[in-house]
Amino acid sequence: MTTTSSVSSLVQSIGEIPAESIVFGHSDAMQALRARMDKVASANVPVLIQGESGTGKDIIARMIHGRSPWKTGPYVKVNCPAIPGTLLESELFGYEKGAFTGAYGMKPGRVELAHRGTLFLDEISELDLALQSKLLQLLQDGQFCRIGAQEDKKVEVRVVCATNRILENEIENGTFRQDLFYRINVVNLALPPLRERRGDIEDLVNYFLDYYNRKYNCRAKPLSSELMTVLQKYHWPGNIRELENQVKRYVILGSEEVISSDLATHQPDYFNAEINFDGPISLKKLTRQATRELERKVILKVLQANHWNRKQAARALSISYRALLYKIRDAGLPSNRTIRRRENANAGVAAD
Ligand SMILES: Nc1ncnc2c1ncn2[C@@H]1O[C@H](COP(=O)(O)OP(=O)(O)OP(=O)(O)O)[C@@H](O)[C@H]1O
Ligand SMILES: [Mg+2]
Repeated sequence: MTTTSSVSSLVQSIGEIPAESIVFGHSDAMQALRARMDKVASANVPVLIQGESGTGKDIIARMIHGRSPWKTGPYVKVNCPAIPGTLLESELFGYEKGAFTGAYGMKPGRVELAHRGTLFLDEISELDLALQSKLLQLLQDGQFCRIGAQEDKKVEVRVVCATNRILENEIENGTFRQDLFYRINVVNLALPPLRERRGDIEDLVNYFLDYYNRKYNCRAKPLSSELMTVLQKYHWPGNIRELENQVKRYVILGSEEVISSDLATHQPDYFNAEINFDGPISLKKLTRQATRELERKVILKVLQANHWNRKQAARALSISYRALLYKIRDAGLPSNRTIRRRENANAGVAAD
């Protein structure tokens, strides 16, 4: 039997959301997304949020709820992959007493708990085909059936779905229903990856710095402009979540070195990257990227081998000192004094 407290714990508070100026920043893509979200939030239609992991899908879902006509109603989030397949149906749609062995009492599902509120289905592509058809019925006529019930129930709910997959590919593979896709995708909000909104990185860094300084009662200083340049050039595979974690570590550990040395070892590998043969391939661009990546790796190794003494490294690479400084900056490599001082101190080599 479900207790009152376990039922209410499924209805979440929408929690703290950063100011809009931080969430949307300045890029055209995010401004267009904001305008689209504002228009759709007040209409009770399904929304599909797509974007790579860590781009803010969760935040946008909560914002949509906060602007919807049912904003004072429940906000119920279902993280589809976190609930084992066999349990997901009863979690979503509930069951009647005696519906299966162990069903000692009735239990309402999360769909019901979201009545006159928002049902946020995170990672929707993880729903199996049987559950997809139950969800389709819910979206078509607002009806669903608890497991073991004789009759359908009716519910009024705003459905917001999110995914970091390309659902069109899942449809082609036969793992996602096309008719469901059309139903959930009435309005599509596509979140750009952080590497496509680099102009917002500085504001995000300062926001997280202030936030974690206050949260952990720390006094970490603003980042140096040198490190900020490194952050602006990094490819951020983990998007804003990764950026937030880097700043959080900096605040707690109090040293820029933790960020710069970590990022230097996580650069994209263009040689092993999958090349997409579906669209046009720019051989020139790929070769340029690969050359830059090779150059970056060689420079990093030579700098490390020379304990970050840039004059020695330039000699070892047979390039001028000035050319090396330019290449270090261009490759987004850390060149801060902390690294050199530490490495030099360890190795007993004088800094240049
Ligand atoms: N636009 C943003 N402004 C400020 N913080 C953000 C923004 N987007 C994401 N974040 C922060 O990054 C972290 C990840 O965000 P969120 O959980 O919304 O991403 P997601 O797209 O749902 O990721 P996943 O696909 O892994 O579930 C959160 O801690 C969130 O606060
Ligand atoms: Mg999420």
